[in-house]
Amino acid sequence: MNKLYLVGVGPGDPDLLTIKAKNIIENSKTIFYIENKESNLAFEIIKNFINSSQKLIPLKFSMTANKEIKEKNFEVIKETIKQTLTESDCTFITLGDPAIYSTVYYLIDNFKDQVEVIPGISSFSVLSANLKIPLVIGKQNLAIINLNSSKENIISDLDNNESIIILRIIKKRIKFLKELLLKLKLEKKLIIYSNIGFENEMISTNIDDLNESLSYMTTILIKKN
Ligand SMILES: C[S@@+](CC[C@H](N)C(=O)[O-])C[C@H]1O[C@@H](n2cnc3c(N)ncnc32)[C@H](O)[C@@H]1O
Repeated sequence: MNKLYLVGVGPGDPDLLTIKAKNIIENSKTIFYIENKESNLAFEIIKNFINSSQKLIPLKFSMTANKEIKEKNFEVIKETIKQTLTESDCTFITLGDPAIYSTVYYLIDNFKDQVEVIPGISSFSVLSANLKIPLVIGKQNLAIINLNSSKENIISDLDNNESIIILRIIKKRIKFLKELLLKLKLEKKLIIYSNIGFENEMISTNIDDLNESLSYMTTILIKKN
């Protein structure tokens, strides 16, 4: 039975691909990646490890909230993978670590017996390493939260943890986050790190940079101590 490798490619710097990920990518006949702004970045990370004999299959992934359109879109993608898997092993690349908010997990449900998951380095691990700041030490707790989750959850996670990583920086919640941090007097405990590992990388500790122009590709750390 042919295999489907779900490979985490890290957040940006190609040097942060694991040896296992690099070997699988270099030896794969077919490589899938989701074609949208964010996932093209996954392709950017691996492009120097690809040769001309490999087949690259961009998969269009609809960002619509319409459930029906989304499901039809998923079906088309699943069918493409299924068909390709009858011919050879395949690799599906994903940004960072597949364990963290990776959409591809929705797509591989049908192929569980054939799937092998290769972990990658997450954006927040690179934030910590580049800034030489541990995310947690001793008895501290860390929450990894999604800015698109409910406001109640965000408030409770900020309350209950010493360190909070915020991912999926959607525009409609940025103002709420800024006001919340000011209310909780956490505005000086903030690190904003955008486009980690890419040429347009940006680091800020200024709360005013929490504004609508902030890139979706931003990882935020709130560290109380
Ligand atoms: C759908 S999640 C995928 C997370 C990814 N699986 C990981 O392990 O980092 C996308 C979010 O991850 C964060 N992210 C991923 N890559 C990043 C990068 N290069 N720079 C900053 N944030 C990044 C951002 O918060 C972005 O909104």
